[in-house]
Amino acid sequence: MRPPKDHKRSIRSVILTLIALIAGAAIIFKAWELVAVLENKLVALETNVGADQPEQVCIEPAQRKSWTTLSREEKAEYIRAVKCLAERPSYLNPNSTVYDDFSYIHITMGNAMHMGSGNLPWHRLHLHLYEQALRSECGYGGLQVYWAWEEESEDPIHSDFFDPETGFGGNGNLTGDHLSPEDSMTRIDKNRCLVDGPFKDLQPQWYARLPDPKSVDPYVDPVFDPHCITRSFTEAFKDPKKHAKEFPPIPFGPNAVSKLLAIEDYSEFNLAAEAMHAWLPVSVGGDYMALTAPNDPTFYPHLTNIDRMWWKWQAKNGKKKGMAYDGATYRLSEVNASLDDIIPFPAFIGLDRPMRIRDMMDTESDYLCYTY
Ligand SMILES: *[C@@H]1O[C@H](CO)[C@@H](O)[C@H](O)[C@H]1NC(C)=O
Ligand SMILES: *[C@@H]1O[C@H](CO)[C@@H](O)[C@H](O)[C@H]1NC(C)=O
Ligand SMILES: *[C@@H]1O[C@H](CO)[C@@H](O)[C@H](O)[C@H]1NC(C)=O
Repeated sequence: MRPPKDHKRSIRSVILTLIALIAGAAIIFKAWELVAVLENKLVALETNVGADQPEQVCIEPAQRKSWTTLSREEKAEYIRAVKCLAERPSYLNPNSTVYDDFSYIHITMGNAMHMGSGNLPWHRLHLHLYEQALRSECGYGGLQVYWAWEEESEDPIHSDFFDPETGFGGNGNLTGDHLSPEDSMTRIDKNRCLVDGPFKDLQPQWYARLPDPKSVDPYVDPVFDPHCITRSFTEAFKDPKKHAKEFPPIPFGPNAVSKLLAIEDYSEFNLAAEAMHAWLPVSVGGDYMALTAPNDPTFYPHLTNIDRMWWKWQAKNGKKKGMAYDGATYRLSEVNASLDDIIPFPAFIGLDRPMRIRDMMDTESDYLCYTY
């Protein structure tokens, strides 16, 4: 085991690397170039799915629930539906699955959306379509769930979220060769396969290199490389009390959430929410360390909790914050963000018209129709 000092340095170096990647590329980029690339990718991903949907009306928004409040049966049903998605044929690639489509989209477009103002609305759409897919592809009767980690911030690893029988399984394989703690923060440790839980035999198909800081292309090309889901819990994550000084690397307890919700500006809130979201990737490692994060099914309840933070923030000041949106359109963009910006997303799972940021602002709209 490495002394805590090294561990701390490795987290800092990951955060610095991420900042350097973003800052380095920002200088090179002109907004119109990025928008053009986004549009090309959007066209490239376009498919013919999505027949005319009857316009639904939101009468009573359904409630997304916290994982820990679900009954054993409800948990089992959610997990069944997720595993089912990994058996449904892909809309985007031959010999692939709907489960993998979501990773493919996140790898292809997530690099541009993360750290831009579109981050929260883009992920809101991603989560909504995932929820739709669970329902329409796999007969799931519930809604997307969230993991309220702020309530378990003192001992997250013993949350029933990671339970091997009722949850998403625990750490990866601890025996055999594996990367050093430093390297496993920047590369996926392919030997750390899950050893328990319902997803230990799942073989996500897409893998991604980390973005090249010298490359002007904001996209990370997905690489077809079926592999086990890997997790590489940090020592601090496993024993927060012992490593109290460096854990959590990014605070995510009740106080941190209060501070987050007290932020005034949208763009500042968006970046702070993005920073808070990173606590889980840097603690779990594995597929989480790249844009392949959705390969790990814990990604969805995790991101849904971030969406819930935005929902809470929006509700605080009524209409004013409900429609608050500013900053830069995409990561690296110099164009001011607008509620009329189109959200880049392929036609997929009933998505048959371009969605605008405006369409994602109210979770109780006819299109989204959910609450927390
Ligand atoms: C389809 O993908 C699976 C792994 O996901 C692989 O084992 C198989 O060889 C592939 N088949 C074809 C025809 O590409
Ligand atoms: C863990 O990895 C080791 C070495 O690669 C392997 O021999 C062992 O079977 C793995 N354990 C499990 C439970 O998969
Ligand atoms: C973006 O908005 C700011 C004010 O919020 C303004 O000063 C700036 O000129 C705008 N930039 C563009 C490109 O419209």
